Amino acid sequence: MAFFSSATKSIPIGTDMPQHIAVIMDGNGRWARKRFLPRVAGHKRGMDAVLELVKACVDHNIAYLTLFAFSSENWRRPADEVSFLMSLFIQGLKREVAKLHENNIKLVLIGDRTRFNAELIDQIELSERLTANNTGLTLSIAANYGGRWDILQAVNKMHRAMPSHAGDFDEEHLAAHLAMHYAPEPDLFIRTGGEKRISNFMLWQLAYTELYFTDTLWPDFDESAFNLALASYQNRERRFGRTSEQVSDVASNN
Ligand code: IPE
Ligand code: IPE
Ligand code: MG
Repeated sequence: MAFFSSATKSIPIGTDMPQHIAVIMDGNGRWARKRFLPRVAGHKRGMDAVLELVKACVDHNIAYLTLFAFSSENWRRPADEVSFLMSLFIQGLKREVAKLHENNIKLVLIGDRTRFNAELIDQIELSERLTANNTGLTLSIAANYGGRWDILQAVNKMHRAMPSHAGDFDEEHLAAHLAMHYAPEPDLFIRTGGEKRISNFMLWQLAYTELYFTDTLWPDFDESAFNLALASYQNRERRFGRTSEQVSDVASNN
């Protein structure tokens, strides 16, 4: 079912716990280099950090976790690193999907999957089908994903779906065609690895997301690092354009 939520249209109901967390898992290469290991060793360890975060999100009853695994620009990396990442992805799905399913997790891949090899596409489809009716955490993996790609494909789809509306589209129309139309906008964005940029992640949906940057490298991002991010989120005042006084009035009336 489509969600069409938009923080610029209506004010989301705030809670202490984020409903949707989006993560740029960065720093695998540097983690490996620090240990005089090949970059791909960092990607391998990064997979363990993924599983740990998924578990922590299940424990905290988070509804949506979205992980940036491979950007549309990451094809620019050396061919052997790209193919290592693709096989890690296939193996990871094969190895973990049954456990995800047992834990009532729904897996969704967002991104342009047409560029993947047939084995990976099959494995993605199999995993999505197996977990489609699960009602716990929705785990979205962004692979060959780019925020600009997403907005453009949504514009094109929207235009094809409603040609008579051309020139008259609004936010809800576009949001309904984004790759993550099924989820509310992220409440918390986490980027590990020290860089302070969005790197073409969910450009549309991050409009009012709380941003959290940490120097911790992705393979080191454990439950205590995650708890620091949650604590930081809980200290924010989300105003969505209103004044601080208005926000505290609303809070005291509840
Ligand atoms: C993130 O770690 C993983 C992917 C982009 C696939 P990096 O590989 O970007 O690690 P650094 O930034 O080089 O340390
Ligand atoms: C962003 O990390 C993409 C992923 C984590 C998948 P990058 O390492 O590719 O980002 P830049 O190049 O430093 O911006
Ligand atoms: Mg990086």
